[in-house]
Amino acid sequence: MNTREIMDLALQMAGLDEIPYDSGVIVPGDNIRSVLMGVDMATPELLLAKELGVDLVISHHPQGGEPSIHFHKVMERQIECMVKAGVPVNKAQKALKPRRERIERDSHVSNYDRTGSAARLLNMPFMNIHMPLDIISENTVQAYLDQRVTDPRATLKDVIDALMEMGEYRNALACPCIRVGAEKDYAGRVLVLMAGGTNGGEQVFKAYFEAGVGTIVCMHVPEEVRKAVQDQNIGNIIVAGHMASDSIGINRFLDALRNNGLAVQTMSGITSGIVEEGP
Ligand SMILES: [Fe+2]
Ligand SMILES: [Fe+2]
Repeated sequence: MNTREIMDLALQMAGLDEIPYDSGVIVPGDNIRSVLMGVDMATPELLLAKELGVDLVISHHPQGGEPSIHFHKVMERQIECMVKAGVPVNKAQKALKPRRERIERDSHVSNYDRTGSAARLLNMPFMNIHMPLDIISENTVQAYLDQRVTDPRATLKDVIDALMEMGEYRNALACPCIRVGAEKDYAGRVLVLMAGGTNGGEQVFKAYFEAGVGTIVCMHVPEEVRKAVQDQNIGNIIVAGHMASDSIGINRFLDALRNNGLAVQTMSGITSGIVEEGP
């Protein structure tokens, strides 16, 4: 496979027909037979890949280049997600604006060429695939919870227990936990939000809760947003865990690469999805 075909496979699995702004091929490569992938892959991992003799390095998170500079643009997807959950489109756009603008300002100052220049000097094919794999995580976890948590009086503990049956969460060191709410609190309508670039900030959480969502399951939440949602006193937040949640989409994509005959090695935060049977 070449790097474009590998990207296309991820897009197809996520139901996308264009490469999102937060993903891209930094150094293209042909005839790829072996891959080293991790959640964060930068210059040390590129050197390791050279040492291991692999043909391509894939990072999940953007590592510079256009995917970092244009990262904030993928947050637009959150408007569609809010509308789908029942938020009026005008309110969705305004709720997202402060955080989207903050992310744009932050990425603008970054050294966007650091890792990409290393990949070019090493002549190491290098790409990052972010949102497509987060969409796979989001769809997988939502479908799983829809099937497992059906009692209208289900509690946050029931949601956590269901998540812990998934291999990636069971095998993680940072497991699913409640960040707003308590074990016995009713979950209400459970919505998984894992693919919007990064979290949309306190107003986005509030918009979802006001539209009837009871519990948001996400990958991570900044402390100031957590405090604000706690003060709003409407809904709950379960942080499912960052590395484990990213791994859910990554593992499904890597299985597809293996099915295409590629040799795949993993590192840097990817937790196994295999549930070990107890004694
Ligand atoms: Fe992710
Ligand atoms: Fe992530």
